[in-house]
Amino acid sequence: MHIPVLLKEAIDLLNVRKDGRYIDATLGLGGHSLEILKRGGKVLGVEVDEESLEEAKRIIGSLVHPPAGRAGRDIGSRIKFVRENFKDLKKIALAHEFIPCDGVLFDLGMSSWQLEKSGRGFSFQKEEPLDMRMDKRLAVTAADLLNGLTKNELTKLFQKYGEEQSAYRIASAVVRARTLKPFETTRDLVRVIEGVKGKPPRVSLASGGKGKRQIHPATKVFQALRIAVNDEITNLRSALSQAFEILRGPASTRGARRR
Ligand SMILES: C[S@@+](CC[C@H](N)C(=O)[O-])C[C@H]1O[C@@H](n2cnc3c(N)ncnc32)[C@H](O)[C@@H]1O
Repeated sequence: MHIPVLLKEAIDLLNVRKDGRYIDATLGLGGHSLEILKRGGKVLGVEVDEESLEEAKRIIGSLVHPPAGRAGRDIGSRIKFVRENFKDLKKIALAHEFIPCDGVLFDLGMSSWQLEKSGRGFSFQKEEPLDMRMDKRLAVTAADLLNGLTKNELTKLFQKYGEEQSAYRIASAVVRARTLKPFETTRDLVRVIEGVKGKPPRVSLASGGKGKRQIHPATKVFQALRIAVNDEITNLRSALSQAFEILRGPASTRGARRR
């Protein structure tokens, strides 16, 4: 089951009003959109990942077709699904007559579906191709970066987008490993990172599992690669300034809502 993050808190902040226009810039599986719809708003659901968009349509569709009844059908007529990148927010809003709009929601990162079901290497806990593209039209995968960037470039990437303290040592190990065999799967990368940082600690049963929680040693490098592959910082920067331009009323009082 899909559980949207901070659902109530995020949607409360949007202050949804009946027939108000809201852009869900990161539709995912539509959990936040559905809550806006339930509160009477209209939604423009923007999603760059084609498969994810189809999942969202299926999930929301299954709730709005018979036997959902009258209220359900009404929900279906108040949402538009678009496969777009939110970096073009203003153009998208204009094309779908969502200017001015009453709120824009950004729920950043990846969805549970992408992590667990997409098969694109977002999770270090699975054996999958090192792809990490949310948009399959992008040309460069995570494997391409690992196999193609210099040691210096990889170090900077792990530092900048992952704040990884062992960035230089991991980059050096990546460059060494790829001379033997190019990176293809998540396991290839996890093995190299564990070679530098060690394996993840096991939770001690003696402590009742209450010891200090540590993140997996590969977490930061995986995050850095995902951000780089999808150009997430550039996209967000571009979208945020556009969000303020398309909001109804003075931007200073309404603002773009995000978690
Ligand atoms: C954390 S999930 C959103 C989950 C969603 N709120 C829900 O309730 O299911 C983030 C989603 O944003 C999408 N995304 C990331 N960058 C995007 C972009 N630049 N444009 C459009 N969608 C994007 C991802 O593909 C992913 O599905």
